[in-house]
This record gives sequence, structure tokens and C-alpha cells, in this order.
Amino acid sequence: MCGIVGYVGFRPALPILLSGLKRLEYRGYDSAGLAMLTDNGLWVSKSVGKIKMLEEQIADKEITSTRGIAHTRWATHGEPTELNAHPHTDNFEEIALVHNGIIENFRTLKEYLVRKGVVVHTQTDTEIIVHLIRLNYRGNLTEAVREALLQVEGTYGIAVISMLHPDTIVAARKGSPLVIGHGEGENFVASDVSAMLEHTNRVVYLQDGEIATITPSDYSITTIQNVKISPSIEEVTWTLDMIEKEGFDHFMLKEIHEQPSTIRNAIRGRLNFDDGIARLNGLNLQFEQLRRIKRIVITACGTSWHSALIGEYLIEELARIPVEVEYASEFRYRSPILEDGTILIAVSQSGETADTLSALREAKNHGTLCLGIVNVVGSSIARESDGGVYIHAGPEIGVASTKAFTSQVMVLTLIGLLLGRMRAVSVQHGRELTEWIQKIPQQVEMILRNSEPIRQIAQQFAQVNNFLYLGRGINFPVALEGALKLKEISYIHAEGYPAAEMKHGPIALIDENMPVVVIALKDSVYDKVMSNIAEVRARKGQVIAIATEGDTEIAERVNHVIYIPHTHHLLTPLLSVVPLQLLAYYVALLRGCPVDQPRNLAKSVTVE
Ligand code: F6R
Repeated sequence: MCGIVGYVGFRPALPILLSGLKRLEYRGYDSAGLAMLTDNGLWVSKSVGKIKMLEEQIADKEITSTRGIAHTRWATHGEPTELNAHPHTDNFEEIALVHNGIIENFRTLKEYLVRKGVVVHTQTDTEIIVHLIRLNYRGNLTEAVREALLQVEGTYGIAVISMLHPDTIVAARKGSPLVIGHGEGENFVASDVSAMLEHTNRVVYLQDGEIATITPSDYSITTIQNVKISPSIEEVTWTLDMIEKEGFDHFMLKEIHEQPSTIRNAIRGRLNFDDGIARLNGLNLQFEQLRRIKRIVITACGTSWHSALIGEYLIEELARIPVEVEYASEFRYRSPILEDGTILIAVSQSGETADTLSALREAKNHGTLCLGIVNVVGSSIARESDGGVYIHAGPEIGVASTKAFTSQVMVLTLIGLLLGRMRAVSVQHGRELTEWIQKIPQQVEMILRNSEPIRQIAQQFAQVNNFLYLGRGINFPVALEGALKLKEISYIHAEGYPAAEMKHGPIALIDENMPVVVIALKDSVYDKVMSNIAEVRARKGQVIAIATEGDTEIAERVNHVIYIPHTHHLLTPLLSVVPLQLLAYYVALLRGCPVDQPRNLAKSVTVE
């Protein structure tokens, strides 16, 4: 989704803003722009398409400036045109603003502005903010921003510059992340740490309802009600190479290959092998509180929703606690029943997904204890949860989530183990599980080492129009995830189904042109899945099976087999998903798709 970078300091602003914008490309965008303060006033340039286009557009311009703001826009209100791209300026072209989020009352405000004689040029909701700031300007930029924001309803992360205050960026946040980067004689502001990490790792996360006034040597923060805040500087532990491709062609491929180490990070220090139990201090829950849990609602979106579904199988089987999984966007609007003894778990890679955050707030309003399973440290969901578990997967840059998924599933496994050991799981069974868990990273490594057959299968099917994915039990959500990965990066229509559901409808689609990926592991439903495979083959469907190593029998019954190592049946999703990630990657590559930045998609969906 949209990205913001701002700089005030002593170095030329242009390269800093452009490289910051490039670091934010992964979030998804359709236009870009920047504004800088020069001796001749405000200098603005915008372009539709990639940042490269903006760069080309300004290549021959000589601009010397050490202050500026820049933006990548993911269109919500108004088409992705140059006019609608940010920054937007006031009618005197003295104030420029970039904005992430949505202003919900912009139509009313626009009418008000027009009545005041303001000329509104664009179709965006954003433009009205800059005009409101101008109307409220009485010599103090921060105060003008404060007055303007008191009039708007909705969400925002904004950065504002003005030739009337050439030393200052004013930034404000409500519902859309913003972080200040602290340097020596220079300061930064961005919607994401990665945009400034090459310059500083000392940051201050702006909180909702806060306004920052940033100059080269200083910054101060107040609330929108004008209460002074003492910010605490945090050191980001992510390093620059973590947000670079390190020899891989794409971030997605790098992140798929990082999974052995990211899964290790999710487990590290959290397993007690002697007692066969997990230790999760971040939950902030006493033994008695954990024992009193009667029902769990897990809420999430997209890939995180798929890992939540796997969590449902895991927790119900291990702990015998009823679990419900809800799309966050549905949960928040359907007056949920959250009786005593129910806890809510929000699963989110970014920790900023608007629907998941709202679902969490809805549950908190009901007085429900809320836990977060989150990757991005300090994100909104992490902060607003009563407790939780970080997945420690490191920055995920590829828009299609891969390593976050396996780490989320691993953390849900640990939660299942912990709750299970307090109820239905014996020490012996707990120990057995911990042994299997420990082997997972190495087993993922084995799958990654043998990726060539997956590439060959991708070659054969790269030009088809449809794919079906089937799985049963705990591997049904993996079928959903495999289909989602393929459709989002290769633009092939793909659907995931519980294997037995096929005969209730999707079977009508099967003919010789329909590849069907079936997760057919040696588990309690193996024979049932083999029957489903026979049904596909009888209709000439092409079956690609994900099978357990050593299962030679299956090779005769399907067109292609991809083997994964044997593990405990509850851990199989951690392995079965990996070939599906690779299959999607290779198919997208062969189709010439922009793997890391698929069309229309955004990494962090901060709007409803
Ligand atoms: C798919 C994908 C999305 C996200 C979804 C939730 O590959 O990445 O479906 O999973 O937008 O995002 P988070 O986990 O950040 O809440």
C-alpha cells in the first residue's frame, strides 16, 4: 500500500528520497511523486507507474535541496493518474502533503472548502487535508496541521512541508504507521523502517493521535490535543542485507529459502524437551488463565487466515478447545458472540492490516482477552494486544507471503502444544512432538535442495488457465494457500478445496486441461485422498501429487509426484506448503510476471 519518505538534513534530499521510495516498492503502488524545498520555492514532480519513470522524468533537472517528502500511491479515491498522485499542494503552492490512509468525510469537507473559495483539483480524498491546513495556517505549521486533523475523520499517516517553514517536516499518524529516523544533523520520517535503514537504525514509532515536528537537529512530539510526549528511541535489529535480495532473483525466492532459518527463529528458546512443552512468555498469561480458556477465536486475512485455519486443526486436536477462525473483515461487522472464557488471537505478518486491527479492537471492546501473532515488532496489532508471540521471521518484502506463513504455523503449533500439555497431551506425546518440531527446519532444507523437479513441472503447466488444489484435514488450508500463491503472482485462476468437496461441484471443471495439485500424504486420510485422485484421473485431469517420501505406489497413480519428508501428521503443513510456494514462483517466472510486486496487490493492507 502507499508509502511515505521524508528527509530534513544537510545532504541532497533527492537521492535519499528516491532510494527510500525504492525500498517501499514492495508495498505495491501505481504512481509516485516527491516535493522538495528549493531556493525558488516548492518543487513537485509526479508520475504514473514505477519509480523508474519518476527518476527518468527528473533526470535532467538540477535541483539542490536538502528537504523533501516523497510518496508511492496505491489508488483508492481517484484513478492512478499524475494529477491524483501525491504530493498535493495548497492553492498558493506553498504547502505540500503526502498521505497514507483514507479520509472518510472528504466529500463534506470538500463542499466546505469549495464554499470557502478553495479550488480542488483532484479526485482524491487526500487533497482536502492540504487545503484545510492552509485555511488553518496562522504562522505555525504544526498548529495548522493539528487544527486540520481535528476536522478529518478516517485514517492517516501524513508528512507535510512548506516553504514558509523550510526547516521542518510535520508528520502525524492515526491508523497508518509512521516512524521517525534519528540521525546526526539529519532526521527522517517514513511509513516503514526499511525506507531509512541504510541511514539510521535509531527510530521513534509515532503512535495514533500524535503529531511530530521534525527539523534537521531535533524533533518533538505532541498529541492531537497538544499534550507533550517524551518519545523513546528504539534500535531496529533488522539489518540492511535482510531487506536486500542477497543474490536471489526475487525477494520471494529469497524468503522461501530463508524458511529453515526463520522457522528455527520461531522455535528458538521456546521448547522444553524434557517436559515436552512450549514456553511462550510473551503471552503474559498465568498457568491458571491458560487453563480457564474455553474457546478461541482466531482472526486474520489472506495467507494469515490460512495459517489460522491450520491453527484450528492443531489446537482442537492437541488441546480439545473449540476454535473458530473468522475473516477479520467479517468478524468486525457481525456482532460476534464473545462469552466469558473466550480469547481472541489476531494473526498478522505486518501487524497493520486494517481489518485485523479493527477485529482486535472490536474484541477488546467486548472485554475479551486478545493475543497477537505478529511479525513486525512494534506494529499496531503487537502494541494493542494484551500479549502475544512474535514470529521473528525478519522483514518480508515479497508481496506474496511465504516465510511469515510457515512461522505463523509454527507459533500456532507451539500454542497448541502448550495448551495441549495442560489438558489432553501426555508428557510422552509432548516430547515426541518437540522432537519432530526440531527436525522441521532441516526437512524444509531438504525440500529446497531438491527444487529442480518442481521447476520442470512448472514448465509443463505454465500456460494453463486454471488450477485446482485439493487437500484434506490439516492440509486443506494448505491447498487454499497453494491456490492463493499461484493466483496472486501468476494471475492463473486457482481454487483450493477440501478433496472430498470436489465431487459436490468442482469436478465439473475437470478435463485433460485441468491440472489438479493434490496433497496426498501417508496419513489417516491417505486412502480417501487416493480415491479423490482416481476420480480426477478418470476424467483425464492431470494430477500433481505432494506425497510422503518412500510412497512409491502413488507414482503409478498420478502424472507427477513431489516428495516431502515424513513428519508428525500435525506438522505436515510446514513441509507440504513449500513445494506449492516454489511451484507458484516458477510458474509466475515462466509467465514473465513481476513476482515480487504483483499487479493490484499491496503488502500491507492498511485500508478497509
Ligand atoms: C498473500 C498475502 C496476503 C496477506 C494479508 C494479511 O500472499 O500476503 O493475503 O496475508 O493481506 O496480511 P497480514 O498478515 O500482514 O495481516
